Amino acid sequence: MAILRFNKDWSRKQFLASILLFFVHFVILIGIMAGLLLWKEWGHLAAHMKQFGASYLYALFCVLLLIVIMYLYFFFEERTILSTGKNIALMFTMLDLSFIASWLVGDYIDIFARPVALVALMICVLVGRRVAVFMNIINALLVFVADTFAGGLSADSAYYSSLLISFSAGMLAIFFCEKAKTRFRVVLVGVAIVIPIEFIIFLLEISTFIENVGNGWQALQGILLHMGYGLFGGVTSTILFLSILPVFEVIFNCLTVYRLRELTSSDAKILQKLKAEAPGTYNHAMTVAQLAEACAAAIGENVDYARAAALYHDVGKLHYPEHFTENQGEYNLHDELTPELSADIIRSHANDGYDLIKANHLPDFLADIALQHHGTMPIRYFYAKALKMTDGELNIEDFSYMGPKPQTKLAAIIMIADASEAAVRAVDARKPEQAEKAIRGIIEERMDLEQFSECDITMVELTKIRMALVASLSGVYHHRIKYPSIKYKRTEYGTKGENA
Ligand SMILES: [Fe+2]
Ligand SMILES: [Fe+2]
Repeated sequence: MAILRFNKDWSRKQFLASILLFFVHFVILIGIMAGLLLWKEWGHLAAHMKQFGASYLYALFCVLLLIVIMYLYFFFEERTILSTGKNIALMFTMLDLSFIASWLVGDYIDIFARPVALVALMICVLVGRRVAVFMNIINALLVFVADTFAGGLSADSAYYSSLLISFSAGMLAIFFCEKAKTRFRVVLVGVAIVIPIEFIIFLLEISTFIENVGNGWQALQGILLHMGYGLFGGVTSTILFLSILPVFEVIFNCLTVYRLRELTSSDAKILQKLKAEAPGTYNHAMTVAQLAEACAAAIGENVDYARAAALYHDVGKLHYPEHFTENQGEYNLHDELTPELSADIIRSHANDGYDLIKANHLPDFLADIALQHHGTMPIRYFYAKALKMTDGELNIEDFSYMGPKPQTKLAAIIMIADASEAAVRAVDARKPEQAEKAIRGIIEERMDLEQFSECDITMVELTKIRMALVASLSGVYHHRIKYPSIKYKRTEYGTKGENA
């Protein structure tokens, strides 16, 4: 479910920058705590400080300790999180929001009505399960520190129950949300995590009920009210999650299954444009998507990513759709152009795709793959045409894509699936042996031209990709039974057919 990709680079400068950013966010968090306390104790702050002065230091130290632990965890276990300010800001923004919500709900509604699973759900979907598990613990402890601090370090059992509820509800949400790929299922996760919350509240409050057995109905009402708050907290977590997730997706440019689904649906703006203005390219992209999904599944890459990358790989053709074979009718515009100009128009679709995807604020990996999907391959047709027209030397680079070469396995998959779709379409008899031969030729040609030298794809994976493509292409271009051509004509007894 987690689909945010992080920059893998790491340097001393980034190390110092990450420490500075953590310190800034620590100050912000302390500022938020101070602001909320000021709001709560407005007019009585001096008296509060006098009475609970020691708890201020306790809270400050505990928050600092949690932030240091958080940094150490990321440093040793998930260093990529520290590599960009955006990732760090995402973590702290979630912590800050949850902290404010927990404080205000605890103060103005009830301690059990807090959106306990919000941080867990958000981080799980935006970043990943592993990071979400850790951040859920930090969040639960942070709220616990605030509770004990605001309560003057009192040992109220509700604080400990609240800690357990935050932790367990968050953990359950993380494990349940893995399969929740629709909004309705996410709400069901909210209902599922409520079950243990209700048990904890019931068992905690039942002692109050027993103590107040003389006034049983009122005590029972208290239990039911707190259980209602628990239900509210669980369901609110998922409703808040669904409401703020799209905002986070845009602000932090994160990719989730929900956003991927929107991007790959036929309603997506650029895909609709492609369908209307370059129908041939659109159909080609749909077939490449099918092939890329099979390749990704074969080597354990993310299938949803592969589908999205394939659908967007040729959107750069929207600039000059009629210059690409798949969108041409009888007339070929290149007949009027020099081979140099034709090659220039053809190869510009990689850069144009990159620019178009960036301009529409779509995920970076789509832009990168659009730019890399032809690597530095020569545009053979126009190179050969130019050779025929000149006696002099030709620079093949003038007839080649400008790269870069595929930087990821996914980009390599799109490169191979793209070329295979076009090549196999050109093969007359679509027998598996012919498809196999064509795809083998495509992969070998790209290996000879070192197109995979900048990504970590292995020979084993290339073999699996070849086999997946052969299997898929025989499905796409399966043999059709030749139906006899029959002419129908009306007779006075009905319709009669005869061989044409
Ligand atoms: Fe292309
Ligand atoms: Fe293509």
